[in-house]
Amino acid sequence: MQRDDWLKPKGRASFYALAAALLLALGTAAAQDKPDPVPALTGDIGRGQAIVVSRQVGLCLLCHAAPAGDSRFQGNLAPDLAGTGSRWSVPQLRQRVANARSLNPDSIMPAYASTEGLNRVGSAWAGLPLLNSQQIEDVVAYLQTLQN
Ligand code: HEC
Repeated sequence: MQRDDWLKPKGRASFYALAAALLLALGTAAAQDKPDPVPALTGDIGRGQAIVVSRQVGLCLLCHAAPAGDSRFQGNLAPDLAGTGSRWSVPQLRQRVANARSLNPDSIMPAYASTEGLNRVGSAWAGLPLLNSQQIEDVVAYLQTLQN
C-alpha cells in the first residue's frame, strides 16, 4: 500500500464512514447527558372526555356511541367506545385516534393528528391537525378509562 492510498476514492469513502460513525457515537454520548428538552406529554382524562363529547372539537359521537355525553345524540356508524380501553393498549388507542387510515386506508374516521390527504383546507387551518399532540394524549387517557 502506498502512502497516499487512503486518499483514493475507496480509501476516502471508508475514512468518511469511520469519521461519521465517530461523530455519531460522540453525538449519542453527548445527547445522553442532556435532559429531554420536551417532557413527555401526560394525558388528562377530564379534558379527553370533554374533547370526545364536544360537537365542535372531537365530534367523535357523530359516529361513535360512548358512555358519556347525551346518549340521545350518539352515532352508530362505528364501534361503541364502551370497553375500548380493554380492547386496545395505549399505543393502539393512540394510533387509532392519530391516524385510523394507517390501519384501514378506507376508514371514514378522521386522522386527527395528520394533515395529509386533505382537500380544500381553509388557509387559517392549513397545516394544522384536527387535534394537537396534547389533545391526542388527553383523548387516549380518557379512552383508557373505558373498561368493561
Ligand atoms: C366519521 C366517523 C368517525 C368519527 C368522527 C370518529 N370515528 Fe373512531 N372510528 C370510526 C370507524 C368507522 C371505526 C372502525 C374502524 C375503522 O373503520 O377505521 C372507528 C374506530 C375507532 C376506535 C377503535 C374502536 C374499537 O374499539 O374497535 C377508536 C378507539 C376510535 N375510533 C376513537 C375515536 C375518537 C376518540 C374519535 C374522536 C376524537 C373518533 N373515533 C371519531 C369512525 C369515526
